[in-house]
Amino acid sequence: MKTTKPEKTMKDIMGKIHVLAIFGTRPEAIKMAPLVRALQQNEDMECVVCVTAQHREMLDQVMDIFGIQANYDLDIMEPNQTLATITEKVLHGLDRVLDETLPDLVLVHGDTTTTLAAALAAFYHKIPVGHVEAGLRTFEKYSPFPEEINRRLVGQIASLHFTPTIRNALNLAHERIEKGVYVTGNTVVDAIRMTVNPDYVFRDETLRNLDFRNNRVILLTAHRRENYGEPMENIFRAVVRLARKYEDVHFVYPVHMSPYVRGKAHEMLDRVPRVHLIDPLPVDEMHNLIYRCFMVMTDSGGLQEEAPGLGKPVLVLRRDTERPEAVEAGTVKLAGVDQKSIFDMASQLLDDRIAYVKMARAVNPYGDGKASERIVQAIAHYFAFTRERPETFGLPDIYDWPTAAELRERMEQQQAEEEAKKDQDPDIPDEEKPIDFETFDAAAFVKSIKEEYEKQKGGARPWSYTDYLL
Ligand code: UD1
Ligand code: UDP
Repeated sequence: MKTTKPEKTMKDIMGKIHVLAIFGTRPEAIKMAPLVRALQQNEDMECVVCVTAQHREMLDQVMDIFGIQANYDLDIMEPNQTLATITEKVLHGLDRVLDETLPDLVLVHGDTTTTLAAALAAFYHKIPVGHVEAGLRTFEKYSPFPEEINRRLVGQIASLHFTPTIRNALNLAHERIEKGVYVTGNTVVDAIRMTVNPDYVFRDETLRNLDFRNNRVILLTAHRRENYGEPMENIFRAVVRLARKYEDVHFVYPVHMSPYVRGKAHEMLDRVPRVHLIDPLPVDEMHNLIYRCFMVMTDSGGLQEEAPGLGKPVLVLRRDTERPEAVEAGTVKLAGVDQKSIFDMASQLLDDRIAYVKMARAVNPYGDGKASERIVQAIAHYFAFTRERPETFGLPDIYDWPTAAELRERMEQQQAEEEAKKDQDPDIPDEEKPIDFETFDAAAFVKSIKEEYEKQKGGARPWSYTDYLL
């Protein structure tokens, strides 16, 4: 076949790739900050930042620490805002911004209402969307609420999916989202590497006065909507019991600005000895607090990713988690929202040194600090500025990996086999559910695939998993 090299490359035609990064809350800002920086430093990219300010003070704290200036600020936050008012204000606000900036790509992050509304706004303008932190799932519609559905909907809209882990890519493959998927690691690990410093001196007075050597400091956070009401009261009751029982333990709780959370936290914890309620911490203070503390008790998503990398055990104060990788690695445990289970699980870590040491190991299933770099390269690849795809985070790139479609087929086959086995086995009661993707052991599956392809080492083509996903 005769081929002619085109006279002009995409780079010659487009000049630069114009990216509009949109975010609005604290966690989105923390995880987008390293990426925005990487985009701004890349000569092929032009990155404009629009904040919705779904959060105001908590967002500005992050922007200050990372030195990021917004080009557009929709300034939408109002006290006791509802999901509907946020959605509506973001949609309307972005109409003008998208008309004015005409980006080649809109980047959104994660699962907030800003994320969903921004993706929808871009879709209405027929602008491709890149979803950072794609593919996380609990498979429970209302948990976390509304984030689980936000993620699924953004997954349908997005053209580019940057997943932190292979499991997340499998989750997308299960939903038949197989194109434009890049396994990059989570940018939160990039962020942590910019902030944590063993010689760090806290600016916050409460933190400066804590004796981290002679006391055990537990970092506590709780803010999730699905925990409003009884679950949050249970969490706080367990904290009261733990504070009374252990005299060398200090709880530090930087309280979220939500009026509901602040009201409840102060009502139940204000006068409890050794429980310190403080204002939300700037992100550098927070990351260094994780680094110094004994362990973390939280319903936060981001903290579940940060603490494992810093070797701190985490008790997750939720019914389920969309981040099972660190649970499998053994540094995170799901404590639920029941007072007794939280109290018992925390007591075990405080009483049993072996149980503690088992959990206090640094693991990085969520990233290696190069996620932003990979995402920038993936964007360049998508727009044909480079032929080089970024390497896949979490997989050696030297094996002949199956395609995402093949992986899905194998998963389905494996599930069908399990089901058939159960049908024949009289010992398995009828009411036991057949295996489905929610209970599917993705880690074991990935391991078996890895083992299988280990054998091909040597003769294999240097292709990566993402090659097949594209
Ligand atoms: C939002 C996200 C949640 C994320 C959390 C991170 C949605 C639906 N939820 O929940 O996924 O985990 O952010 O923290 O998008 N407030 C202030 N100042 C601030 C921030 C918040 O006063 O800087 C108060 C406001 O009164 C606001 C309330 O907190 O009404 C709740 O904020 P909102 O963004 O609606 O929900 P979050 O619970 O923060
Ligand atoms: N965080 C912070 N200051 C605080 C509490 C949290 O900087 O006082 C950081 C935390 O380290 C993590 C992110 O905010 O990076 C998590 O945000 P949050 O818990 O509000 O939201 P989620 O991750 O649950 O969506």
